Amino acid sequence: MGKKRIQSLITSLAKLKTDLYQKDFLLTWLQSDAELKAVLTVADILEQMYRANISTRVFDGGLAVSNFRDKSTRTRFSFASACSLLGLTAQDLDESKSQVAHGETVRETANMISFVTEAIGIRDDLFVGYGHEYMREVSESVELGYQAGVLPQRPAVINLQCDRDHPTQSMADLLHLVKTFGSLKKLRGKKLAMTWAYSPSYGKPLSVPQGIITLMTRFGMDVVLAHPEGYDLMPETLEVAARHAAESGGSFTQVHDLAEAFTGADIVYPKSWAPVSLMEKRTTLLKSGKGHEVEALEKEGLAQNAQHQDWECTEKLMSLTTDGAGLYLHCLPADITDVSCKAGEVAATVFDRYRDPTYHEAEHKLYVIAAMIMLNRFKKPARVLAGLLRKARPRRAG
Ligand code: CP
Repeated sequence: MGKKRIQSLITSLAKLKTDLYQKDFLLTWLQSDAELKAVLTVADILEQMYRANISTRVFDGGLAVSNFRDKSTRTRFSFASACSLLGLTAQDLDESKSQVAHGETVRETANMISFVTEAIGIRDDLFVGYGHEYMREVSESVELGYQAGVLPQRPAVINLQCDRDHPTQSMADLLHLVKTFGSLKKLRGKKLAMTWAYSPSYGKPLSVPQGIITLMTRFGMDVVLAHPEGYDLMPETLEVAARHAAESGGSFTQVHDLAEAFTGADIVYPKSWAPVSLMEKRTTLLKSGKGHEVEALEKEGLAQNAQHQDWECTEKLMSLTTDGAGLYLHCLPADITDVSCKAGEVAATVFDRYRDPTYHEAEHKLYVIAAMIMLNRFKKPARVLAGLLRKARPRRAG
């Protein structure tokens, strides 16, 4: 993609009416369609500039802090890469090695890490009813620090996965769809099956399927959610998905049959998650000091999963998709049958065929995070990006 194409993306960005400056990115359903389009557009511009060897360092120093309260590979390195791309230094807050371990308040920690900080990324996805609330508390704390003049700048707070949503993932998935099908408009009328799939590894968070059904229903897609009985998602997200489908002219349906969901699907997203009831029990145990009982609960959950081993994305199921060539999506890591486990979410031959596309899907996340930071920190991002394009300073010599 040449400079002309990048310029045309910048021109489209300049036309979007958004209110993202100094606003945190916590849930996609709190953002307008134009704001989501702005994130996709800036992410695309940054990705194209990187590939064209154009520097996108809009900061000459400054810090970005991540706080991962759950494990991560992709999002952790996407955050660090996004910050490096923009000229920020990423620093991971290890709560066990900080005064948080001695009971320091959220408000104090949030201010103490933010004197020269432009962005704070948080993953807090395990505790139902707490992850999003924690992010809001951090957001309110830095706002208070900024209003009081303690912080010379107000850091952007970015949700790197909470109990409700995984916006950097779902937006990366959406960018992958836009690039695969050609445009957001071309997604209209496409059938996307977000389905549960068997996992033997652990009770996975709900926020990926919740993020997908709430986001993909916004652009006129026909979204089908399929899972065995008992694997319900949080009711709030089902309501949001139904509302978005009604507003966009798409549809949102729920079934308990994997083959029905795959039939005629243009896109499939087979992925395991734990039942919300198990996540709620886990939260109660951990919050009441009964963490030692979590292991037994996890075993109970995996035994429940084992009753649904036939919920696997196989070649036979893929043959039911549109022209037998539906697009396979996964946020990764996937449980691959006979590769990473004996029986898992997806057959090895299906995964092999889509390996490179899913890696590209994952790659978009770093640009999505960089876009969320840029749109929060700059009042006129189109002007900033146009300046970068004009200078076209090489990112790498030679
Ligand atoms: N998909 C995803 O969020 O991966 P990580 O858990 O590795 O960040």
